[in-house]
Amino acid sequence: MHTLSRFSTATLLVATLAGPALGQSIAPRRSSPTASEASKVSQLPPAAAPVVARRALVVSAHPEASKVGRDIMQQGGNAYDAAVAVQFALAVVLPVAGNVGGGGFLVYRDQAGQAGTLDFRETAPAAASRDMYLDASGNVVPGRSTAGALAVGTPGTVAGMVALHGKKGKLPWAALVAPAVRLASHGVVLTEKEAAGLNRTQADFTKYNPGSPPVFVRAAAWQKGDTLKQPELAAVLLRIQQQQRAGFYQGRTAELLLAEMRKGGGLITQQDLDAYQPKWRAALRGQYRGYDVITMPPPSSGGVALLQILQMLEPYNLGKLGYHTPAAVALITEAERRAYADRATYLGDPDFGKVPVARLLAKDYNQQRARTIPANGQATPSAQVAAGTGLPGYESDQTTHYSIVDARGNAVSCTTTLNGAYGSKVVVAGAGFLLNNEMDDFSAKAGVPNSYGLVGGVANAIAPGKRMLSSMTPTILTKGGKLFLVTGSPGGSTIITSVLQSILAVVDYGADAEQAVAAPRLHHQWLPDQLDVEAGALTPATEKTLQEKGFNPKPRASWGRLDIIRVLPDGRLEGGADPRGDDAAVGM
Ligand code: DON
Repeated sequence: MHTLSRFSTATLLVATLAGPALGQSIAPRRSSPTASEASKVSQLPPAAAPVVARRALVVSAHPEASKVGRDIMQQGGNAYDAAVAVQFALAVVLPVAGNVGGGGFLVYRDQAGQAGTLDFRETAPAAASRDMYLDASGNVVPGRSTAGALAVGTPGTVAGMVALHGKKGKLPWAALVAPAVRLASHGVVLTEKEAAGLNRTQADFTKYNPGSPPVFVRAAAWQKGDTLKQPELAAVLLRIQQQQRAGFYQGRTAELLLAEMRKGGGLITQQDLDAYQPKWRAALRGQYRGYDVITMPPPSSGGVALLQILQMLEPYNLGKLGYHTPAAVALITEAERRAYADRATYLGDPDFGKVPVARLLAKDYNQQRARTIPANGQATPSAQVAAGTGLPGYESDQTTHYSIVDARGNAVSCTTTLNGAYGSKVVVAGAGFLLNNEMDDFSAKAGVPNSYGLVGGVANAIAPGKRMLSSMTPTILTKGGKLFLVTGSPGGSTIITSVLQSILAVVDYGADAEQAVAAPRLHHQWLPDQLDVEAGALTPATEKTLQEKGFNPKPRASWGRLDIIRVLPDGRLEGGADPRGDDAAVGM
């Protein structure tokens, strides 16, 4: 395991040598950098050696989950089988984000080159309404959409996994759920980070589960090395293993979930559970410097925003501008600012209103957006950046990511979530699983920021059955028809910029997979108007220059957990597991 401080020293050295480039102009260039040009200009900090696998690879947020995925592929399962098994394993070994009580998005590309996506996002219960989180005076009631039973959206994960297996799986369903049943009943050995997460949440677990303290609560503090057994969760997983969808949405598990709703004033009913449907959606596609980018469409904003930013950046030679130099950071930040402004206005569930995706991704539209980026590296205050015009009006820390490639070349990129850490903090009594607080991803009131500081309006207002807007950005890149990169990350609103930075690191700065995930990050989301800076991401001189140019840099504790796979020219698979977490690449 390497440490961030090691990178920080290296970053400082490299970036100091590069200099603050005060007078560097960021005028667009005509052609893209060549591969050799990109590798020459690489100035990313060094990182630990990436894991390299010959045939198949899983990178996820937990070593046990990655091993489960690898084992499934060793038994002859494909990447989709492995994804199902990893999803259920994460629900056990990573309670902070892994889940059966949440939802997610999955992008795939199969061995023949066919790509698609699966949306298993939660939905607002039928009894939900636009102003449900407002008080009598129309103000958002703090906490109402973020914790407790009212914050819970109808879970999509189990239905999503059943749909994935039904369409793309090869091994029997029972074999895919078995490892999770075993982990829940035998117990998992806690890592230091998980023990700390559980300890931090003791008061909330007690508060939001009155009269039925969940298995996560205990008198003595959790320690690294303690074993966490989850017998109630094991029983739920066993029902899912035996009855698939009905093991969760009907019968005993559903009864317990509905009892929890009644107890805590939640809205989910049996009708909501019966009505829940995951959706296969066509992937969004774009190009960046000769790579094809395959990503998630709405109701995630991730793919649209990512492709917009990439389009705004493409005319510039980032490699030449240098890595994390004032000029490069100014450019990337300005592109992010514009894309996030559009996100706030235009994006929402496409099944509930028109989302102008084609227009937002049109070349001329993004060229026009990029034309307003100052050439002198100066910031445009966000107050002066509105959403783009000329579009039709709108009518109508914790998540987790895994990347998997199997021996046949099928690829899965999946981000799944309870939303906040441990979701709503509500653990279904007698069933031992956490429920999400995904309702907070809706815009509770136009212009009022949610827990990620994101604002929205009509497009993302609450409505019965509607999916809340997401930032999750599972993404796959190909080149010349061949798989090249599988990437994704958690991190709420920062997901889009983390995924962006993984792509820029590999494509523009010649990074290997581990360098790409380890590199200290930056983030701007239009509002609030600030540039979040992870320790070591900028030299003091660069930070000062950016401050002077109006970028408002602000230090922020590390965020995101990128778990990526890069396919090497000889076909081997290189894994990048984010050193900020317990993430692990396990291959064969
Ligand atoms: O869908 C979304 O955008 C959020 N619910 C994701 C939450 C998240 O990534 C939290 N992780 N750190």
